[in-house]
Amino acid sequence: MDQELEDFLNLMGEAERAGGRVLHELIDLAQSAELRELLKKVGHDEGYYAGELAGQVRRLGGKPSNRTGDFVEKVRAIAALPDKLALLNRGQRWVIKRINEKIPAIPDENLKAFLTVMAQGHELNIGALEEALRRGLAQAEH
Ligand SMILES: [Fe+2]
Repeated sequence: MDQELEDFLNLMGEAERAGGRVLHELIDLAQSAELRELLKKVGHDEGYYAGELAGQVRRLGGKPSNRTGDFVEKVRAIAALPDKLALLNRGQRWVIKRINEKIPAIPDENLKAFLTVMAQGHELNIGALEEALRRGLAQAEH
């Protein structure tokens, strides 16, 4: 497969694996049961995308990366849960931006469809976490 596309898909996969790890770590910090459920769901989505990206790389004849992005350390370095979630959402927006930049150059219809749905799923999850932040669910008193 095209090396640039393989590198891109693997970079996205590493970002999703990092996202899944981050979400998993944040569940224990959330005092709101609703926020914990949301973090579990978003983290599950991240793991799903990482797995699907690896599958796409394999299907197209490439070698999936099993690395985890350094985003995990960046989120760990931040103290407060709302700030961690805000950084997570910025990372999620970066993923959407990278996907949208890449989509026009992708000839494979199946991969294009997957990436389109992955970007949409990220929009939904960003929105849900923003709403949770607005409602104060990430604050310590919940
Ligand atoms: Fe993600």
